[in-house]
Amino acid sequence: MQDRPVFDGESLITSQAVAADIAARYPSDQQERPTDAMAELALVLHTARLRFEQGKDPVQTMRWTVDALHKLRRRVAPAIWRELIPVAQHHPVADYFHQDPFTRWSFEKPRGYSGDAQLLDFIYQHESALQSAADSTPIGSALYDYSKYYPSCVAVRERRDNLARMVDQVAAARGGDAEILAIASGHLREAEHSVALRSGQIKRWVALDQDPMSVGSVARDFVGTPVDAIDGSVRGLLTDAYKLGTFDFIYAAGLYDYLTDRVAIRLTRRCMEMLKPGGTMLFANFSPEVTDDGYMETFMDWTLLLRSEAQMWKIINGTVDRNAVDAEVFFGENRNIVYATITTPA
Ligand SMILES: C[S@@+](CC[C@H](N)C(=O)[O-])C[C@H]1O[C@@H](n2cnc3c(N)ncnc32)[C@H](O)[C@@H]1O
Repeated sequence: MQDRPVFDGESLITSQAVAADIAARYPSDQQERPTDAMAELALVLHTARLRFEQGKDPVQTMRWTVDALHKLRRRVAPAIWRELIPVAQHHPVADYFHQDPFTRWSFEKPRGYSGDAQLLDFIYQHESALQSAADSTPIGSALYDYSKYYPSCVAVRERRDNLARMVDQVAAARGGDAEILAIASGHLREAEHSVALRSGQIKRWVALDQDPMSVGSVARDFVGTPVDAIDGSVRGLLTDAYKLGTFDFIYAAGLYDYLTDRVAIRLTRRCMEMLKPGGTMLFANFSPEVTDDGYMETFMDWTLLLRSEAQMWKIINGTVDRNAVDAEVFFGENRNIVYATITTPA
């Protein structure tokens, strides 16, 4: 039995809490009755189960189900969708989808919360996840082979590569003195792709996370490098509990998707105080263009706050005077992830 980390209460990490916030943010005027939505869901689940039972290609079944759940989620009011989620989770077809080790890890939450770094390792196809994939049933292994190519997963791998590239750019500009802070760093997989880290161009790269298992993994993997793994939380950052000093580049990937606007703005303000002149803060968020949201929220029990460009600007505008900084909001290639950067004057 693994230790379950204690949460700091600053991030909305439970699916119920995130869902409550989503419902408040997206009031709906849709008129669909709960019984209609329930009947449609029942049909989707029944059809998917039949396809599995008849031995049809599991990948086609998953593709079809992901699409059907996405369309249903978009059409019904958030409050009705919330009622549908447990119905899908308790339907016998879940036993098929949970043969996918990625889906199962997300649903079972062995570390006690959604979106842990090991789950991300399934997306990165990192060697730490390969054994579970190899131990899967034939259906599970076919589903994982497909699920890792969801557009949202492709976007997460691109995010990792973008972060490594940005760190390298900052390191090149700072001539070996670069100081980097990764908030909610998970396993810091982007560092494995940083040329600057390998070639000794980084002064320090602080990796802060609230999960002691992830902190331990980073400390072990990057021993003897300038990477400094810190067991810390958003709350600790907000109260300056760690006295980390200042940085050239601060970033958070896979964190803002769990933060309400209020906490996101407080955290971004705090990060701005920790930037050196000419320093950059980056935060990334899944966008409303993801297409596997319905599948994630049901069979993976993984709920995220999706943010549009305008919602990213809302955080920037709540944090800084836009005329005093250089701010940008942009999408990754397939628009499943949206990025915001704020750079202070040199
Ligand atoms: C989806 S993972 C992202 C990991 C990594 N940044 C990546 O992109 O691969 C989210 C991480 O946020 C961390 N996290 C969640 N809430 C946090 C908080 N309040 N303070 C610090 N870390 C937090 C989790 O422990 C987890 O490692």
